[in-house]
Amino acid sequence: MVILKQTKDIQNFIAQQKAAGKRIGFIPTMGALHSGHISLVNKCVADNMLSVCSIFLNPTQFNDKKDLEKYPVSTEKDIELLLRAGCDVLFLPSAAEVYPGGSDLATTFDFGYLETVLEGATRPGHFKGVGQVVARLLDIVKPHTLYLGQKDYQQCMVIKELVHQLGNSSPVVTICPTTREADGLAMSSRNRRLTTPQRALAGIIYQCLVSIQAKQDNGNFDIVKKECEELLTAKGFVTEYVALANANDLTLLQQYTPDTPTVALIAARIGDIRLIDNILL
Ligand code: PAF
Repeated sequence: MVILKQTKDIQNFIAQQKAAGKRIGFIPTMGALHSGHISLVNKCVADNMLSVCSIFLNPTQFNDKKDLEKYPVSTEKDIELLLRAGCDVLFLPSAAEVYPGGSDLATTFDFGYLETVLEGATRPGHFKGVGQVVARLLDIVKPHTLYLGQKDYQQCMVIKELVHQLGNSSPVVTICPTTREADGLAMSSRNRRLTTPQRALAGIIYQCLVSIQAKQDNGNFDIVKKECEELLTAKGFVTEYVALANANDLTLLQQYTPDTPTVALIAARIGDIRLIDNILL
């Protein structure tokens, strides 16, 4: 695996690879890699792409600076995992490489409704930061395909919209299924911060999503939502949302709507750790 830290170096390397006929697959990350990230690398490798992964802990997407300070960093271990997965290139830039002209969010993208609802409602500026960094990384790496995990459903939609706003035909955005622990907990870098008792409870989020899915044919979502909120509270979570939304545009749905492609989404905190997950109905 080639590890590159300078923008000009990765740009030159990728230009050479493209000239040699390689197709470029890109997996942007903030590090603290887990099997979910590695499943994206595996998919990229299986698609016969030159696999390029980036690790950059992007400060501009953290509306809560304490969350940024606590974000786990494990670069050495990440490199080992990427090597084992057969990743071809790791881009490991500094903030100065990513934001040579500064990182003023005011000049970034407007995702309208998508950045105000659900995650956007409690994390102002978060998706602007995501859009800013992903646009910059796409400009550097210029991949044919971008690999994202479904766990961050709203982020996937924002990035698809970003690609649309950038007006390019590429990259193609490939969304890969959420990788889960045995009890259903969605893999996330934040899971590392769970204490053993918190970790033992955290699978409840997925159980709630499965019950929302299972009750779609006969259930009343008001009742199912209340059951989930009560269960989460009983387990010590503070629920931010238990929601149904149109899977194509994230318009919130008050009830199960059989003819509408639907995603159920949950955000809940345990201690100071915020977990999110979703399921397509
Ligand atoms: O999902 C993440 O890890 C980040 O939001 C991303 C897409 C790498 C942008 O910093």
